[in-house]
Amino acid sequence: MYRSKIAGLGGYVPENIVTNFDLEKLMDTSNEWIIERTGIHERRFVTPPCGTSDLALQAVKDAICDANIDKNDIEMIIVATSTPEHLAPGSSSFLQALLELGTIPTLDIRVQCCGFIYGLSIADQFIKTGMYKHILLVGVEVQSVGLDLTTEGRDTAILFGDGAGAVIISRSNDNSGILSTHLFGDGTHAKDLWIDAPAGSESPRISKEMLDERRQYPKMNGRQVFKHAVTRFPEVVIAALEANQWTREDIKLVIPHQANMRITESIAKRLDLPLEKVYSNIHRYGNTTAASVPLAMVDARNEGKIKKNDKLILAAFGSGFTWASAALIW
Ligand code: COA
Repeated sequence: MYRSKIAGLGGYVPENIVTNFDLEKLMDTSNEWIIERTGIHERRFVTPPCGTSDLALQAVKDAICDANIDKNDIEMIIVATSTPEHLAPGSSSFLQALLELGTIPTLDIRVQCCGFIYGLSIADQFIKTGMYKHILLVGVEVQSVGLDLTTEGRDTAILFGDGAGAVIISRSNDNSGILSTHLFGDGTHAKDLWIDAPAGSESPRISKEMLDERRQYPKMNGRQVFKHAVTRFPEVVIAALEANQWTREDIKLVIPHQANMRITESIAKRLDLPLEKVYSNIHRYGNTTAASVPLAMVDARNEGKIKKNDKLILAAFGSGFTWASAALIW
């Protein structure tokens, strides 16, 4: 068995900054309400046309450069996104073509906010068994084009933003690397945070009636999401601690999916960790779903908060419901 590690990291967000004041012009909301309930000050929206793979490209280039490998060393592409540019094929196929990466396997995974950590776990299995040495994993979202930017959709529209994060997962030849991953799901909550249409169970999948009923927009039972998130996040962090016999003092930083600042504060409180040990950059980007963990890693590294040999825990919770963690030595 081999160990895998994050050998390269890159992130990219669109230039277009959308502040809470910009949203005030589109719906009945306020900067104060958004900051108080979520901690979000601004987010980035793409300027269409811009697909998921287009947005991913710069983050991927930076990750390849950071890993100091040739792009042709990559043996598999995994893209975690809940906002692919088309129903078929997956964004990983479009990204492969953009990168001119030959005939290697490509895989899309749709685990929403947990997509990046699920992807990390999948990549880890391929590296551990010796099947591959270098895998490109991307967490990327173009949420903005699918949001209901009216008062009717304000509970979700204020939360989400666009962005991309990419990592190269490589075989480790030192002590650094991914030590454990824990993945969970509970589909009985599938409709507590979901997008109904296009609906594969109906014919046609998308119709004028569906659009008139606004079924193409995200729907969320915010209180249910909040209640489960503040329980599952600490649980899955504790699972990572116990599996590696780490104490809270051992952890340099917990990097959670950036769902909501109140959820992050609650994680810190329930885990009895100082808030400085639970990373947040939600004020800058909002909730970028599958991109949020790698984007948070990029910012944490740029801020000097993660250094070689640091013990980190990544954790996520989201639509599905799904929740997941990864313990790693940087
Ligand atoms: N601006 C202003 N008011 C808003 C609003 C907005 N953007 N969105 C909702 N409201 C209103 C509601 O309509 C409601 O009004 P009412 O009392 O007249 O009915 C009021 O604010 C309170 O709504 P409620 O849903 O009870 O608020 P809340 O305290 O639960 O906060 C969330 C709403 C969405 C911030 C909160 O539920 C939450 O953080 N949930 C988790 C969301 C999340 O993290 N999702 C991603 C998971 S990966």
